[in-house]
Amino acid sequence: MIRACCIGWPIHHVRSPLIHGFWLAAYGIEGAYTREPVEPGEAAAFLRSLADRGFAGCNVTIPHKEAAFAAMDEVDPGAVAVGAVNTVWHEGGRLIGMNSDVTGFLLNLDDQVPGWDRETGHAVVLGAGGAARGIVHGLKSRGVETITLANRSFSKAEAIAAGDPRRIRPAAWSALPALLPHADLLVNTTSLGMSGQPPLDLSLDGLKGDAIVSDIVYVPLVTSLLDDARQRGHRTAEGLGMLLHQAVPGFRKWFGVTPEVTPELHAHLAADIQGH
Ligand code: ATR
Repeated sequence: MIRACCIGWPIHHVRSPLIHGFWLAAYGIEGAYTREPVEPGEAAAFLRSLADRGFAGCNVTIPHKEAAFAAMDEVDPGAVAVGAVNTVWHEGGRLIGMNSDVTGFLLNLDDQVPGWDRETGHAVVLGAGGAARGIVHGLKSRGVETITLANRSFSKAEAIAAGDPRRIRPAAWSALPALLPHADLLVNTTSLGMSGQPPLDLSLDGLKGDAIVSDIVYVPLVTSLLDDARQRGHRTAEGLGMLLHQAVPGFRKWFGVTPEVTPELHAHLAADIQGH
């Protein structure tokens, strides 16, 4: 029996057990994926004892992603870019971590808008938090030439842009109407539009007809940004796909099978999200 888990605090709302449970059943693997409540400050100790506790690895969620990064012996470049780890396994006594949100974002776009990277010279990214850092790293890794970061707090966009001033430009939120006509790809990385959060109040009027629109928010499944974009005929990539794709590398490492993101898995998660 191979075991993996997700650690966080609180942990009851986390949906990854639904994804891994679906795949374990689909591939007939004798394994388990559980939620493990780990209090703030306790993540490093838990991670160091993963093997003793019988876990092949784990996912890490709020508030432990930065502490997990610090506790690793080895991390992937995406994790370095974000300063946070969400997927952990052990090899020969060493703890190895990656940030699969970055790969999840890219693979979801590959899935929903094949060839998007060949036509994206300029991306406009809304937000400048941890999610934006990861997405900027991912976009650069796919050759996107220029990335403009628009954020309510300009200084946070400036801080990220300072890491690569040739390719990343900070922008004020108020500059968005002037930026949209030049965007090949628009990505929302803020929490705006998530249920319980304020709406993302953005007119897509200036956006080019062939621009791609992506949202990392997945509750609701179709945010008003995506709904607007679809009604205007834009190609879109929704947040649930990113959540599903980010689960792939962990499952592969722990359970030894590369799982597929299928319409059935999508429907399984969508039903859960819509049921709440
Ligand atoms: P994460 O690590 O998940 O990206 P975060 O670091 O809290 O989360 O970042 C949240 C992003 O949403 C930030 O860009 C934040 O803008 P600020 O840097 O100005 O805080 C953005 N955000 C959250 N609430 C917002 C609001 N009401 N209006 C505009 N932007 C908002």
